[in-house]
Amino acid sequence: MQVIILPSAAAIGDYAAGVILRGVAERSNYVLGVATGSSPLPVYEALERRWIPELAGISAFALDEYVGLPYSHPESYHSVIDREVTTRLRLDPNRVHVPDGIADDPAAAATAYETAIRDAGGIDLQLLGIGGSGHIGFNEPTSSFASRTRIKTLTPETRSDNARFFSSPDEVPLHCMTQGLGTILDARQVLLVATGEKKASAIARAVEGPLTSMCPGSALQLHPDATVLLDEAAASELTLRDYYRFVFEHRPEWQR
Ligand code: GLP
Repeated sequence: MQVIILPSAAAIGDYAAGVILRGVAERSNYVLGVATGSSPLPVYEALERRWIPELAGISAFALDEYVGLPYSHPESYHSVIDREVTTRLRLDPNRVHVPDGIADDPAAAATAYETAIRDAGGIDLQLLGIGGSGHIGFNEPTSSFASRTRIKTLTPETRSDNARFFSSPDEVPLHCMTQGLGTILDARQVLLVATGEKKASAIARAVEGPLTSMCPGSALQLHPDATVLLDEAAASELTLRDYYRFVFEHRPEWQR
């Protein structure tokens, strides 16, 4: 994994937006994997600020969705993605996909989601945050590294972390539909963003810990093109943080 430590969330947003915009400008039919949560918001802000017409032609696939929340609920990921991504980046809503958390047949909806990703040509770049439990998407601890889109049960820790978005903790759904770790590992490039001290332990386990389903983020160690963008606080428990800084400062010209 390439670990890049930057001075602020805004700098992370700008760096990630640069990587995405380069891909969008270079490739037609670009497919962006988008994430919810607060960590990727500076990336969307930077993309909105640096908007290029090619963005209007991309497709997007969200990582996950709560089960049982109507699309119109302000905290459904359908609503969040519509608000923070589709509207701000002026994407074509017909090309923005979110797993169907209210499908009558969730297993069929999950399979259809995998098919839709494949039919779009696969995900070029998957943007990710990380949960305190080490989850990526909603792949909670003990998720299989080979998992595909499916229904999962949220951990009490995740439900309590996400309670801030709801009027009461009981309102947080128990279940979600999420791309699997196998689905995420199929993306051609992965960009994980994390800021703040609360993420330091999950980041240390994902980047430097053993490969273990107890920390689903550690699955990214298997990805050939995974970059982790961190602020100082999120990087604070990394043993090799000075080395990562050294690597970034001395990156060869072709990598700049
Ligand atoms: C949610 C999302 C994840 C996200 C995580 C962290 O549970 N399903 O995709 O990475 O929260 O969110 P935040 O960035 O707000 O800390």
